[in-house]
Amino acid sequence: MKLPGALTLSELLPVAQAGGFAVAAFSVRYLACIRPVVEAAVEADSPLIVEISQRELGWFAVTPRAFRDALERALQGAGADLPFALHLDHTWELPVIEAAVEAGFSSVMIDASALPFEENVALTRRVVEYAHRHGVSVEAELGRLTTTDKLEPEGDEAMYTVPEEAREFVRRTGCDALAVSVGTAHGVYPVKNPRIDFERLAAIRALLPGTPIVLHGGSGLPEETVHRAIRLPGGGISKMNVATDLENALLGAMGGLKRMTSAELDALPGELRALGLEAVRREARDKIERFVLSAGRASAYRPGVEG
Ligand code: 13P
Repeated sequence: MKLPGALTLSELLPVAQAGGFAVAAFSVRYLACIRPVVEAAVEADSPLIVEISQRELGWFAVTPRAFRDALERALQGAGADLPFALHLDHTWELPVIEAAVEAGFSSVMIDASALPFEENVALTRRVVEYAHRHGVSVEAELGRLTTTDKLEPEGDEAMYTVPEEAREFVRRTGCDALAVSVGTAHGVYPVKNPRIDFERLAAIRALLPGTPIVLHGGSGLPEETVHRAIRLPGGGISKMNVATDLENALLGAMGGLKRMTSAELDALPGELRALGLEAVRREARDKIERFVLSAGRASAYRPGVEG
């Protein structure tokens, strides 16, 4: 059963697209990091997306059910009426999607972008049919995202999303939001100013006026780049994924510890862990306030209140 109060991307993102802001989707990785991102959103009166990917479920040894339960406890602890989604990030296998939907996720991503176009369409369509039967939204991906250690300045554009293909893809799959490849990558950029293909982003928006666009690889982007991506004519990106900056804040504040499992983090001394979690809260708040500009926008989702 869907986690009570959890919204779909179709409920969260069009409001952001029309309102000139985006919703930060925090890939928290560790269960303990859910609470500080919830606190940051409550303090900033902001909508929030909390997410974890198939790969992260494995790396950090977390189950979808444990993730849902940790979010439920954090929301109860915060005692606030927060517009939020519980989202499954990059996933390529149906059983993982089914497990998340059964655990109460309100949204899932099927990432079949490594497959040829027709196969991406077919698999995404199948996930949309399944998820919509459960009232769950679907983010899909067209074009390839890479990691920052694999950026190839000469060859990158071959992986970028083609606007006409994006239109056909959304029409045929019925996906609720589209992750695009326009120059960002997962991880922290070796260069300070990654080149975003804004013309391509604007062309995708023009062909898909009603489809929320998702920007992956939100870590390390300059704030003006994010603002420009949000403020395109007709509304730019309305969901921005952030993973690396949060984990770096966590591990950095604990003296540069190496990545560990979620349970190993829980087993660290409380005082040390508190330093890390406080850094996560500050980092999330900064992304909300300075980057995606969603502070004060929670009211846009409350009935009878103009946002
Ligand atoms: P970063 O690690 O660059 O923030 O990317 C996160 C992401 O896009 C998760 O899907």
